[in-house]
Amino acid sequence: MYQIGTTLTQYIIFEQRNHTDATGEFTGLLNDISTACKKIAALTSKGALVGVLGAAGSENVQGEEQKKMDIITNDVFIEALENNGHVAALASEEMEAVYNLPADKPRGPYMVTFDPLDGSSNMDVNVSVGTIFSIIKAPKGTENPTADDFMQPGTTQIAAGYCLYGPSTMMVITTGKGVNMFTLDRDCGEFILTRQDVQIPEDTEEFAINTSNQRYWDAPVQRYISECLQGAEGPRGKNFNMRWVASMVAEVHRILMRGGIFMYPTDAKLRASGKEGKLRLLYEASPMSMLIEQAGGASTTGRERIMDIQPSELHQRVPVVLGSKNEVERLTAYHTE
Ligand code: AHG
Ligand code: MN
Ligand code: MN
Repeated sequence: MYQIGTTLTQYIIFEQRNHTDATGEFTGLLNDISTACKKIAALTSKGALVGVLGAAGSENVQGEEQKKMDIITNDVFIEALENNGHVAALASEEMEAVYNLPADKPRGPYMVTFDPLDGSSNMDVNVSVGTIFSIIKAPKGTENPTADDFMQPGTTQIAAGYCLYGPSTMMVITTGKGVNMFTLDRDCGEFILTRQDVQIPEDTEEFAINTSNQRYWDAPVQRYISECLQGAEGPRGKNFNMRWVASMVAEVHRILMRGGIFMYPTDAKLRASGKEGKLRLLYEASPMSMLIEQAGGASTTGRERIMDIQPSELHQRVPVVLGSKNEVERLTAYHTE
């Protein structure tokens, strides 16, 4: 256990000491990520004052409109990570292909996938956004890893986390030994440990789903939500509350803090456009699943554990059901019954 008030820098140095085989590269990488997130926090908090709101006038590889901040935050991440010799390659929501480092940059043992700005449609209306990251090992002796090298299931993640830019900025990390939360103290520029070994309650009365898609949902999701909505008079015998922030980082953070279930299931509309889900496996679903499981929750597609999925594409999408264990297991059971 760490003392509340420990800085993220101290925490990652202590963690390194616990690993006899640690080279310091991982410590350096987490520091780089923390630097990137502090820069993004500064930009998001200044908003219109520094002209970062609005559309960029372009689309990303997934055909989604890019916000100015999608591109800026992607650049901030690359700049913070490509110079220090901790990574071999990067992959991001905002880049079609794997980002290989320029020839003159030193290579390191890790690869990072990231969603530089999650919930970016919230940016212009001043609602919470976030950054999601996942760290995996790079194949040894490869100068320029390919997309194939990123096809590793979530269980191989060395660490995962997000930074939430909300009323306060928080970095939430797991290295496979529980989940710790750090709050940015802007006065000293450090992330300070404010909550450790977070545990998600197994039961909940709060769900999150975009109900505007209801007419496209499959039967198990229809049944689950309908039962929640029937409240105390229905089969569940209790009332449920609902939230939808449209930023997965904010939803996962709420669930880590007080429980809940979050769903972005597959539906008829997604399938008609050739997609299995909305959220991306490598830089949204997989890192969030590691955090949720490390906090005692569960995360599935409705049918299988997300952490076990063998990826087949860099921007692969999957259905996501995550949060309080008993609710996730119930909805997953509805899919297999
Ligand atoms: P991004 O801004 O990185 O594209 O991600 C947005 C994602 C996710 O964070 C959120 O849960 C979901 O899309 C919101 O979807 P709707 O627009 O359907 O509400
Ligand atoms: Mn996202
Ligand atoms: Mn994004």
